[in-house]
Amino acid sequence: MKSDPSDTKKLADTINPLENGLDRAKLPSHVAIIMDGNGRWAQKKLLNRVMGHEKGADTVRMVVRSCREIGISFLTLYAFSTENWQRPKTEVAALMSLLKKFLVSERQEMVVNNIRFNVIGERERLPQAVQDEIQRTRDATKTNTGMCLSLALSYGGRAELVKAVKEVAASVRDGRLSLDAITPETVARHLYTSDMPDPELLIRTSGEMRISNFLLWQIAYAEIYVTNTLWPDFSREELIQILKDYQGRDRRFGRV
Ligand code: IPE
Ligand code: IPE
Ligand code: MG
Repeated sequence: MKSDPSDTKKLADTINPLENGLDRAKLPSHVAIIMDGNGRWAQKKLLNRVMGHEKGADTVRMVVRSCREIGISFLTLYAFSTENWQRPKTEVAALMSLLKKFLVSERQEMVVNNIRFNVIGERERLPQAVQDEIQRTRDATKTNTGMCLSLALSYGGRAELVKAVKEVAASVRDGRLSLDAITPETVARHLYTSDMPDPELLIRTSGEMRISNFLLWQIAYAEIYVTNTLWPDFSREELIQILKDYQGRDRRFGRV
């Protein structure tokens, strides 16, 4: 990850919407990505898994830039799950240190490119140094309006739903909410994503046909695209090709 400030490019002025062949009127407003395959990428090259995560961080930077340029309003990236805490201590530590480095090196680019930074997940479980960098990045970007970038960190869909259920139950117990007033909107308001639309498009890299506890509630009607490409090999060209595929789909929402 480069931290040289001269590398910080202002992207907004260089966008050419006609270049990529996408229909701007039919872009998903929210794209969510399960970034998988860093370990296998490294393994294939006989490298340490951590090298795969390092290369994966470069892909994150590229995808953030690309989505901003294309005009996506919300980008949510699954970076660390509640289950990932069960990985070897050394790998968890390397991921946390990489995350901290990323937050520091990308902060200025987010500021310059009008990107608002957000985290979904159990922030309080992250190392204090990471929490501090998250707070700094959130503060530095909080008035930005170009794109909302959310990293899912120590995120689990079930834990998120349990948190929501507890909050709603407490409102009922305290007489602030009646049982009959609970609707899907009530639940949605208590999720980490309360200020976002649901993702219209969910991408998973590295071929696994599963959700792995990501955004369980929010992806009820998301279009799913699984690519065999390993995350470190994922490219801007493939992202655009997936967006084109999405634009060709017939979203019926149960209707005929
Ligand atoms: C995704 O890559 C990154 C995280 C889950 C942190 P993996 O580390 O899961 O890579 P594979 O699935 O082992 O190849
Ligand atoms: C999902 O990948 C979590 C993230 C991408 C952060 P995993 O590699 O942890 O998922 P499984 O174990 O293949 O389901
Ligand atoms: Mg994996």
